[in-house]
Amino acid sequence: MTMKSWAEPYKIKMVELIKMTSREDRLKAIREAGYNTFLLRSEDVYIDLLTDSGTGAMSDRQWSGLMMGDEAYAGSRNFYRLRDTVQEYYSYEYTVPCHQGRGAENILSKILISDCDYVPGNMYFTTTRLHQELAGATFVDAIIDEAHDADSEHPFKGNFDFNKLDALVDEVGAEKIPYVCMATCVNMAGGQPISLANLKKLRAWCDKHGIMLVHDMTRVAENAHFIQAREEGYKDKSIREIVYEICALTDAATMSAKKDAIVNIGGFLAMNDAKFYEKACGLVVVYEGLHTYGGMAGRDMEALAIGITESVQDDHIHARVGQVQYLGRHLREAGVPIVNPIGGHAVFLNATKMLPNIPQEQFPAQALSAALYVESGVRSMERGIVSAGRDKITGKNHRPKLELVRLAIPRRVYTQGHMDVTVEAVEEVMRRRDEIKGLRFTYEPEMLRFFQARFEQIA
Ligand code: F0G
Repeated sequence: MTMKSWAEPYKIKMVELIKMTSREDRLKAIREAGYNTFLLRSEDVYIDLLTDSGTGAMSDRQWSGLMMGDEAYAGSRNFYRLRDTVQEYYSYEYTVPCHQGRGAENILSKILISDCDYVPGNMYFTTTRLHQELAGATFVDAIIDEAHDADSEHPFKGNFDFNKLDALVDEVGAEKIPYVCMATCVNMAGGQPISLANLKKLRAWCDKHGIMLVHDMTRVAENAHFIQAREEGYKDKSIREIVYEICALTDAATMSAKKDAIVNIGGFLAMNDAKFYEKACGLVVVYEGLHTYGGMAGRDMEALAIGITESVQDDHIHARVGQVQYLGRHLREAGVPIVNPIGGHAVFLNATKMLPNIPQEQFPAQALSAALYVESGVRSMERGIVSAGRDKITGKNHRPKLELVRLAIPRRVYTQGHMDVTVEAVEEVMRRRDEIKGLRFTYEPEMLRFFQARFEQIA
């Protein structure tokens, strides 16, 4: 039988009870949290769409893998299983485990970047850019303009603009560019994919200039889904094949395994160059742990190895992205302004359009995210001017064109019913949007300010 709808390729064996709180409780909680959803207690949240990071549901196979942990300090068999799985599914020769993605970003940046270098990328990610800056580099955005336009229907908004890359080489010289940072399914653009055609061109561009190509592969399987669905020549290729092809076009990768690979903690740095691996082994012992565990327990490496194999199954990824599309389509039908096309891991509400009367300096997306929580207990995250932070030289606020609230969907956790309730919650906030007030900082951390900043309402 050929089916028109997707369904989850699993059934539920264990559940975690959640409960709805009262509006009064939520008002109190958000005030105490300084209008920052990161500072809420999870117990006060009904449907948690803060992030898809570390929040996925592991399978029974992964849970049984936990029992197979080899917790030896050195040479754990789970490490070798992980290394072999990375080779088999992602093509990279060497794997250095790290406690999570930013651990890998730290080591990568420290090894490859020299003071006053430039690192181009297809849009910034918060922790990635910070590690580049801490190592002495300046990040340069080289994504196509369409990525900054919430209404553009471009099917591959994660693509690079080669005019921007060429302009950077002309300005600073290729020797000042240690690598290009290429993310699959670009988070800050709304979970938008890069095409294989663009990536192949990027590979050739890097070869021409003698520049390394580093892959932020946090959401590579979701990117593969969009290539299969949208790019000519790929509809009969499996997700697993496409994932491998993407990885094989790059020299090295940082991975936050908490997303695509469906584990609650973990990540790695992977590469093909033996010298680079040697340097990474030298640093991982300083910041993470020995090179055969790098901040992960043996059992966690086992669960990760199994998670990688599950993450590239076609039926898994179609249901995963299918659920995100379901939420996005229903929000769009309800007249809610969102980023188009709908992304792979999250639906992004366009706060600029929803709250046109709140200027960007009063943090409309932050205010919208807080209001959605008060209305419904649904937790989301600001992805706008607060997340973008300040310019490292001028100290002025970056002013991103995208002022968004992200509803990120954890993998294999919520049902279609939760998505329906979320749609109703956002609709209700839309109806009451005139009551939403702008915010100002009462506390602004120096780095990655969005995590711990506190705000108050402007009367
Ligand atoms: N790269 C991307 C594209 C990410 O989305 C993240 C994390 C990281 C790197 C860093 O990995 O958290 O394991 O240290 N994103 C999370 C999110 C935090 O909610 O989008 P990490």
